[in-house]
Amino acid sequence: HAIHLKDYRPPEFLIDAVDLRFDLDPERTTVEAKLALRRNPAATRGDGDLRLHGEQLDLERIAVNGHPLTPSEYEVHQEGLTLHRVPDQFGLETRVRIHPSLNTALEGLYQSGEMLCTQCEAEGFRRITYFLDRPDVMATYSTTLVADKRRFPVLLSNGNPVESRDLDGGRHLMRWEDPFPKPSYLFALIAGDLKAVEDSFSTASGREVALKIYVEPHNLDKCDHAMRSLKKAMRWDEERFGREYDLDIFMIVAVSHFNMGAMENKGLNVFNDKFVLARPDTATDVDFDGIESVIAHEYFHNWTGNRITCRDWFQLSLKEGFTVYRDQEFSADVGSRGVKRIGDVRLLRAHQLPEDEGPLAHPVRPDSYIEINNFYTATVYQKGAEVVRMQANLLGPELFRKATDLYFERHDGQAVTTDDFVRCMEDASGRDLEQFRLWYQQAGTPELSVQEAFDADSGRYSLSVRQHTPPTPGQPLKEPFHIPIAVGLLGQDGEDLPLQLEGDTTPSAPGTRVLELTNSEQSFTFVGLEAKPVPSLLRGFPAPVKLKTEASDDDLLFLMAHDSDGFNRWDAAQTLMQRLLLALVDDAEAELPERFFAAFEQALMDAQSDKALLAEVLTPPSEGYLGDQMAVVDVDGIHRAHSVLGRRVGERLRDALLEVYRANDGSEPYAFMPDDVGRRALKNLALGYLAKAGDAEALAAAQAQFEAARNMTDVMAALRLLVDHGGEAGTRALDHFYGRWSGEPLVVDKWLSVQATSPREDTLERVIALMGHADFSLRNPNRVRSLIGAFCNANQVRFHASDGRGYRFLADRVLELNPLNPQIAARLLKAMVRWRRFDAGRQALMRAEIARILDAEALSADVYEVASKALGD
Ligand code: ARG
Ligand code: ZN
Repeated sequence: HAIHLKDYRPPEFLIDAVDLRFDLDPERTTVEAKLALRRNPAATRGDGDLRLHGEQLDLERIAVNGHPLTPSEYEVHQEGLTLHRVPDQFGLETRVRIHPSLNTALEGLYQSGEMLCTQCEAEGFRRITYFLDRPDVMATYSTTLVADKRRFPVLLSNGNPVESRDLDGGRHLMRWEDPFPKPSYLFALIAGDLKAVEDSFSTASGREVALKIYVEPHNLDKCDHAMRSLKKAMRWDEERFGREYDLDIFMIVAVSHFNMGAMENKGLNVFNDKFVLARPDTATDVDFDGIESVIAHEYFHNWTGNRITCRDWFQLSLKEGFTVYRDQEFSADVGSRGVKRIGDVRLLRAHQLPEDEGPLAHPVRPDSYIEINNFYTATVYQKGAEVVRMQANLLGPELFRKATDLYFERHDGQAVTTDDFVRCMEDASGRDLEQFRLWYQQAGTPELSVQEAFDADSGRYSLSVRQHTPPTPGQPLKEPFHIPIAVGLLGQDGEDLPLQLEGDTTPSAPGTRVLELTNSEQSFTFVGLEAKPVPSLLRGFPAPVKLKTEASDDDLLFLMAHDSDGFNRWDAAQTLMQRLLLALVDDAEAELPERFFAAFEQALMDAQSDKALLAEVLTPPSEGYLGDQMAVVDVDGIHRAHSVLGRRVGERLRDALLEVYRANDGSEPYAFMPDDVGRRALKNLALGYLAKAGDAEALAAAQAQFEAARNMTDVMAALRLLVDHGGEAGTRALDHFYGRWSGEPLVVDKWLSVQATSPREDTLERVIALMGHADFSLRNPNRVRSLIGAFCNANQVRFHASDGRGYRFLADRVLELNPLNPQIAARLLKAMVRWRRFDAGRQALMRAEIARILDAEALSADVYEVASKALGD
């Protein structure tokens, strides 16, 4: 059943302090909890009962103020424990047994390889002990860990270590104290045979913080990049947001079984090892980039999430949207801002816009959910970050900093709402953001259409903008949003013109101007123009909207060549390529205009331009994205168009591409520096176009690169080309690659993915065969994502094969995973929820598979919610 935001009530009881003692053992762990409880003076009084959350716990003892309770004094049920007639203030003691080795859901306390670890967000703490497992109950924690010393020499929890001693029988004890009140979802413990890379950081006010990254001993040589990233993030948060770290120690632990990316537990961040471990020969530029931003993201949560947390889970974007915005800004500052923005918008368009248009569309602040784990979505995270970014841009840097300072000051130690956040923006700036709040409340992506008019006699140029937001489930009608629209006007020479709005009293400079659209239809008139300008709309992607552009191909080519805004140069190129590709979908023989090749070649040969940016400009929109632009996704037509465009570019621009490849194919030692990353991206893109043209020289170059490269970025780029275009050479390369890397699970994941995403016709057979491989396991989410997730989400042409076998395959996996790991099962199923976007045949096949899932017994809430909403009308 669904939980609704409108039903929120403050908790009837509060917990001020928690004392936990764990006797750790993978088969059976004993958890003793002492809770200091009291009635919440701010709550309306209910029936006086205390209801604690608890799942899959074997209760062994329960006592109030030291007096054991008799069974008539409490009730244990599926979801927890109810105590009748409790005092207004009292101590509650419980002892429960739990079974980490049987925990395949990876929620609560579980076993990963030889270690024990926890994941409590959102509602995993209730699988550890009876508790008020909701984020508006904040307590201080003291945690005692006892375990076999040989098997678990390292015992970690939140806060500072305060006691450590040996016990009888080869056991030992560690006690940790966390002085900062926190909600239960931020609790963590780790037990294992781990080694740490250590460093330290001195904060702006001069405190020394010990930094430790714990990994299995054989991974000690893969932590340098994570540690460097952490220190950069700590410094950046001081400089940009005035936020200092607050404990004496900050720890990160890499875990190999993890449902998500990472988790910001207070003082003890637990990570999917994929976002910690990297060596140039084992990890790609994309991996290095991901590590830098996820390390930063989790670290930034210490203030945006931990010191100030969410009142309830409908407010998830309060911490996630803001923290994603912060990690995006960090990456932009330490890397290349333009490339970062393009990457973020690509991601938003690939995941969030489709979500907003499908049956799972929900507002940044959802109104209801069945299973909160289904709401760690692109909308809450990425669109949430865009909503924060719009506020930052509306206020400008100084006022935004003033507003965030106010937020940190006003709400430190509290559990608050997105509304509280916006109020800080308003109070610090004096702006009224009432209409702006709709961004949190209304789902769906606004569509903008723009009409231009130029009057040569008066020199007036006007843009009439309309916004329309299509209906989403439960929200048939939408109010107009408050949308910032950054625009520039280009003169015939390609330079920015002054943007003099009618009625402006002071002259304005050339550049970018932000128009604020608040009505469903609004017109903006510029004066003083000698000729019709070329508009550059939505510079830097100022709002998460879709623009229906009517720009001519010539204007797009002009913008691609001249726009002072790098983002819009890229976007113009994307729109242009999209048009060409869609034309090829209609007719694979269609001629591509000569000026397209000319522009492509000119961009390619421009020695001045930023290579990373150039690689982005010359990368065509993905097959999935093209599908999103069609009324009915033409799976095969899109795939064919993509191949044709690649082949024609590869043939026509062969010499230029070869030259770019050779000029950028250096062999100097690997460095994760923006220039080097750009160089590798560009040369591998060039090689890709050549390989698509079946160029023998290119395939030989790929083979040579595969053999000689010392960094995984170049090895993987070459391997992909050999697998997709090299026939037998691809098979040999795969065998060789596996032989070299079979001991490194994260590299084996790449080996799985490159096969799962290949357009080869036998890919599904291979994926099925690989499920039987000794290195594959349904119990490890990274393996599942690398093989099954990659096939279903990044191989449109094979997953959506018209015979429906891809759909059947996915549904079978969802049903297999449902009892093991509901979160992963539900996430995989999302690959099929947009079935309405396809032709009738595929629709029927997908619908039938979703219906088959809904019919299954013992469906988890996670899978049920996704499947039922997918079929709902
Ligand atoms: N708070 C984590 C992060 O974004 C993600 C935790 C997700 N947990 C979950 N059960 N879905 O940094
Ligand atoms: Zn987060």
